[in-house]
Parts: sequence; structure tokens; C-alpha cells
Amino acid sequence: MLKSRNMEQSFTPGGPRHVAIIMDGNGRWAKARGRPRLFGHHAGARRLREIVTACPDLGVEYLTIFAFSTENWKRTQTEVAGLMSLFKRYITKEMQAFVDENLRVRFIGDRLRLAPALQDLMDNAEELTKHCTGVNLTVALNYGGRDEVARATKRLAKDVALGKVDPDDVDEETFVKYLDTYVLPDPDLVIRTSGEARISNFLLWQSAYAEYEFIDTLWPDFSPEVFAKLLAGYGVRDRRFGAAPA
Ligand code: IPE
Ligand code: IPE
Ligand code: MG
Repeated sequence: MLKSRNMEQSFTPGGPRHVAIIMDGNGRWAKARGRPRLFGHHAGARRLREIVTACPDLGVEYLTIFAFSTENWKRTQTEVAGLMSLFKRYITKEMQAFVDENLRVRFIGDRLRLAPALQDLMDNAEELTKHCTGVNLTVALNYGGRDEVARATKRLAKDVALGKVDPDDVDEETFVKYLDTYVLPDPDLVIRTSGEARISNFLLWQSAYAEYEFIDTLWPDFSPEVFAKLLAGYGVRDRRFGAAPA
């Protein structure tokens, strides 16, 4: 198994190429320890680091993670502010590691509602890693699937109004070009931790044919071993994409 940094990605045949994770359960993990919710978010961030590092050995080419939803603004001001400062600290601290690990970092979601300082960090991380050829790490921050489709539709409508797109030519292929994820393949496997069996507005369009794993483990307890087990289980699935079995 390769352990070196800066390596090119090795793709495991039969494994999921693109894994998307709804990292849920930080609050409950903290509560179980009698600690504030932010304690759980910090533990979750440390966990993420380990999972990202494990990706090359596990053959995961694209990892997309749900960090903050368009609905998460409904939380207390203390929690939202704590999460926003955690994102800033995390990106600042990890920036060099992203490059060292040859990680290509991208953000999806409506970044215009985020603080300018955070937007700058996100832009810097994308710029600094744009030549990286290893794992593609995509962070969904202020992301909602419905919001993404609405924003895509708005931009498409503008192009129609400008005469750049003929409405009669609009099909799935045209539409995906307006989504935040247009450079990414669709997720093969979507994992949600914490026992909730819902997708909470994550990658609605892109997950049309994804496989799902809902597991009880809370995100701060999600180890590379648990991750590896789920990936091994994926290999035995029969994805038919609507076709009849051979
Ligand atoms: C997921 O953990 C992290 C974010 C949504 C930012 P939660 O904060 O939702 O944790 P639970 O679901 O309350 O346990
Ligand atoms: C989904 O978790 C969003 C993230 C993990 C960032 P939530 O905890 O916000 O979802 P619900 O409210 O349980 O559906
Ligand atoms: Mg939750």
C-alpha cells in the first residue's frame, strides 16, 4: 500500500470513484460527553483530516463532504459563528497540507452569503491547489441541492435572455453545465453518519443513481477502518442504472 505523499491517485477497479459524505452527529457526540456542540464540530474536523488522508490508499478519487447546509443558518448564532470560525481556521491551517498531499480543493454552494474573509480563503485554497492531481476534495459550504438548482436555472435563464442558449436545446447535458459540480462526476456512493436516513438537501440532482449507506456511527467516531468497510461493501453491489439484469 502506498503511504507516500504527493503521489498520483491510484484508482481501485470496482471501488467507488466518487464518495460523498453527510458528516452528521457532531452535536450528539458532544452532548453524550456533556460538552457544547462546538466541541463535537472540532472533533469532527479532526476526523475529516484522517478520512481525507486515507482516500488515496482506499482508491477514492473524489471526496465530497457536506460541511454546512443552506438550512444550517437556522441554528443559534453561537453555533453558526463557531462553525464559521472553525471553517476559517481549518482552511488556514490545512492550506499547506492540501498542497503537500496533492489535494485539489473545491467548494460548492452559494459562497456569496459567507463572510468576505472566508470567501477569500476558499478562493485561495482553490487557486493554490488548482494544479494538484491527487484526490479531489470538494467541500459543500452553504450548500443546498434545491438552492443549487435554482441558482443554475437563474444563470441558464440569463443566457437564454442574452440569446446564448436556445431554449429548445436545453436538455440534461446543458443543465449540468450550470450546476456547481459541473467538473465532477456524479457520486457513486453517498454515506450519511449518525443514524438519520435522509439526505437533507445534499446533491439532489447528482445522486439520482448513487448508492446509499446510512450508518449509526456519529461523525467524530467515523474512522478510516469504518470507511474502508463501507467501501468494500460497495464492490458487491449491482448498479443497473435502469437497465435489466444481464
Ligand atoms: C453535523 O453535525 C455538522 C453540521 C451540520 C455542521 P450536527 O451538528 O448536525 O450534529 P447532530 O445531528 O446535532 O448530532
Ligand atoms: C446535514 O445535517 C447537513 C450537514 C451535515 C452539513 P443536518 O444535521 O443539518 O440535517 P438534518 O437537520 O438532521 O436534516
Ligand atoms: Mg445533524
